[in-house]
Amino acid sequence: MDSSLTTQKIHCKSLLFTPLLVTVIIIILPFAQSNQYCDAGIGYGESTCGVDSPYSSKILITGGTVVNAHHQEVADVYVEDGIIVAVQSNIKVGDGVKIIDATGKYVMPGGIDPHTHLAMEFMGTETIDDYFSGQAAALAGGTTMHIDFVIPVNGSLLAGFDAYVKKAERSCMDYGFHMAITKWDNSVSREMELIVKDKGINSFKFFMAYKGSLMINDELLLEGFKKCKSLGALAMVHAENGDAVFEGQKRMLELGITGPEGHALSRPPMLEGEATGRAIRLAGFVNTPLYVVHVMSIDAMEEIAKARKSGQKVIGEPVVSGLVLDDSVLWDSDFKTAAKFVMSPPIRAPGHGKALQAALSTGILQLVGTDHCTFNSRQKALGIDDFRKIPNGVNGLEERMHIVWDTMVVSGKISSSDFVRLTSTECARIFNIYPRKGAILVGSDADIIILNPNSSFEITSATHHSRSDTNVYEGRKGKGKIEVTIAGGKIVWENEELKVFPGSGKYIEMPPYNYLFDGIEKADLDYLSSLKAPVKRSIQTS
Ligand code: URP
Ligand code: ZN
Ligand code: ZN
Repeated sequence: MDSSLTTQKIHCKSLLFTPLLVTVIIIILPFAQSNQYCDAGIGYGESTCGVDSPYSSKILITGGTVVNAHHQEVADVYVEDGIIVAVQSNIKVGDGVKIIDATGKYVMPGGIDPHTHLAMEFMGTETIDDYFSGQAAALAGGTTMHIDFVIPVNGSLLAGFDAYVKKAERSCMDYGFHMAITKWDNSVSREMELIVKDKGINSFKFFMAYKGSLMINDELLLEGFKKCKSLGALAMVHAENGDAVFEGQKRMLELGITGPEGHALSRPPMLEGEATGRAIRLAGFVNTPLYVVHVMSIDAMEEIAKARKSGQKVIGEPVVSGLVLDDSVLWDSDFKTAAKFVMSPPIRAPGHGKALQAALSTGILQLVGTDHCTFNSRQKALGIDDFRKIPNGVNGLEERMHIVWDTMVVSGKISSSDFVRLTSTECARIFNIYPRKGAILVGSDADIIILNPNSSFEITSATHHSRSDTNVYEGRKGKGKIEVTIAGGKIVWENEELKVFPGSGKYIEMPPYNYLFDGIEKADLDYLSSLKAPVKRSIQTS
């Protein structure tokens, strides 16, 4: 791991020295160690330090516009012990309840990011945000749950699961797992069953790229799709033609192109379109639902549009970087600036992002992720002489909610209800945890954000909560500010301050057979009866 991980800014310091807080800490710490929310142990001090609020188990949010995916209304929201207990007007409460006035603001379900990589070992290094720093950043940006990708250990899914359980011990918000499949044999097939039945994972990701490391071939893809279907688990693909990318990389090096622009040039949109179309056809052949992660190009999006139009169950997930950035940055003459944008599939030429935004607003694509996979500039410098060695990945966990609000809602492309659907509810539905997550409803988990539409945000690496020294959205400003985040019934972000403590996040088990599996059996029966085979033939004897 990069040693610069330990050179963190200690923002805790300033708060520790305020007289009021020192008093509180001195009084409470001896009696209530578990109420600490300062993560001083490893020198990570991006979040502020203090003690758990005595009010945190009972919260009343008054007068806000409560937004769900299909409805919005002005109402109060009352929370007790981590659960939403009432949503109605004029809720009356007694003493000991923290009251937040949300008049003129939106009260919405916390964001759920379907696609992150925290503490992932990848390309000779490890992502700089772990389960604490990445989640702290997420909470500061209004995301209250994420689903991270478990990478098997030596091909073993169970060993991979155990490793990620360990990584996640310091979680400060709720999380779930997807499982990557990187090889195929009987043991992987058996482990897939255990992973779904015993470990609470209902999705498997297949990498069609990263030849020589994570990539799998079509034979494995078919085996994996069949197994997913038999378990009611969702098949996910990273769709790029890895063999052709390999060829593209060789071509760039032969041309003497070794810098970050070579990354984009070696894996053009046609390779993403080809793999997306191939994965869709293979999933159609098996008749199992498919989820395409990080849709970055018009080419891939059009394959999804075509499949959905024909009735196939395909979900398309664009990520924030693909929606709002373009590839001109990869030609920047400063390596550090250009390398921070290297991710796969690559950020595309201008035009692709706008087309993806339009596809989101018209329902061709269904939800927005981040693919948060952050490396600092020292890690990115591993590829200073060869773009193939630049660790692939960009940030986004903290920025997603603000950027989607500003780009899609403020611009008039979607409504605030659509925003909730794209950033939270649809993810909860697809991964089968709705309405526990993804809704402001009685009985749902109290994961809530309050967004002030009249306030504004600005993104900088100097103020973000990721451990990275760079931010691909550096300097971006916009309208709409998440002023409060409540996670698991606790106020974790208010007045620009984080109050998080390691170990407070919960693992959320996700059961198989989401709504996409409805009707799959019927389609199989229709298929079998359409075959008119085998034909019974009599042997003619002459
Ligand atoms: O560049 C990327 N996307 N890094 C994370 C790994 C992946 O492909 O999702
Ligand atoms: Zn990927
Ligand atoms: Zn990813």
